[in-house]
Amino acid sequence: MKIFVLTGAGCSAESGLGTFRDKGGLWARFDPITLATPEAFARDPDEVHAFYNLRRRNLLEAEPNAAHAALAQLQAVLSQKNGGLFLCTQNVDDLHERAGAQQVTHMHGELRKARCMACEVVTPWDGDLGRLDRCPSCHNSGSLRPHVVWFGETPLSMDEIESALHSADLFVAIGTSGAVYPAAGFVSTARQAGLQTCEINLEASENAHVFEERHYGPASLTVPIWVQNILAEL
Ligand code: APR
Ligand code: ZN
Repeated sequence: MKIFVLTGAGCSAESGLGTFRDKGGLWARFDPITLATPEAFARDPDEVHAFYNLRRRNLLEAEPNAAHAALAQLQAVLSQKNGGLFLCTQNVDDLHERAGAQQVTHMHGELRKARCMACEVVTPWDGDLGRLDRCPSCHNSGSLRPHVVWFGETPLSMDEIESALHSADLFVAIGTSGAVYPAAGFVSTARQAGLQTCEINLEASENAHVFEERHYGPASLTVPIWVQNILAEL
């Protein structure tokens, strides 16, 4: 069986990392236009670096939850049975990897990496990042940015994602509001390609009506139950 899983901020919510559009979410407290666009970074790099440094420090304190662990287990079992779990995440955290997932496609980038705007090299980066830091590869200073996809920029690995979407049997969205494209359109692509579709979320997302199957509740409870049911059918 080949499964395409798309995760969003709700998958990491119980690990203490904020979501974006829930009550009190990140975009209720911070303005995405002044913090998560290329124009914002050009205008005030220090403010944008400070925002991502805060989120990176929070991430280093966070731990994966049972939803991350269950998805890593399912990916391992499916790969042993000649199936597969293509794990695509909108999240910039590394909690899927820290829970043991072997393949994770970060379509919105990764918080624990920096990208050089001069040489394009991406470098693991756990400390605070700032304008004065030097690129470890080309030694330019002032050319490092968070390796995160901002509003108005093209998500990463879209060709790989498209091909995985068209070769799976089941599409599952976990912990995402279905508010941001292209990720929000994946379920329609999946349905047109003949995949079964399933939503696992705290509450109905904006595109809940497109999903054939739906499970609601906290991911750390709903995802392990869903994984056990899939494993029982293998
Ligand atoms: N378990 C399951 N789902 C949850 C939980 C939880 N404990 N807590 C919240 N949710 C659900 C919410 O109901 C909501 O539908 O997770 C979803 C989070 O939605 P958003 O905050 O919009 O996050 P996401 O869908 O990942 O946002 C997509 O928008 O701002 C950009 O780049 C950012 O990747 C992000 C993208
Ligand atoms: Zn460089």
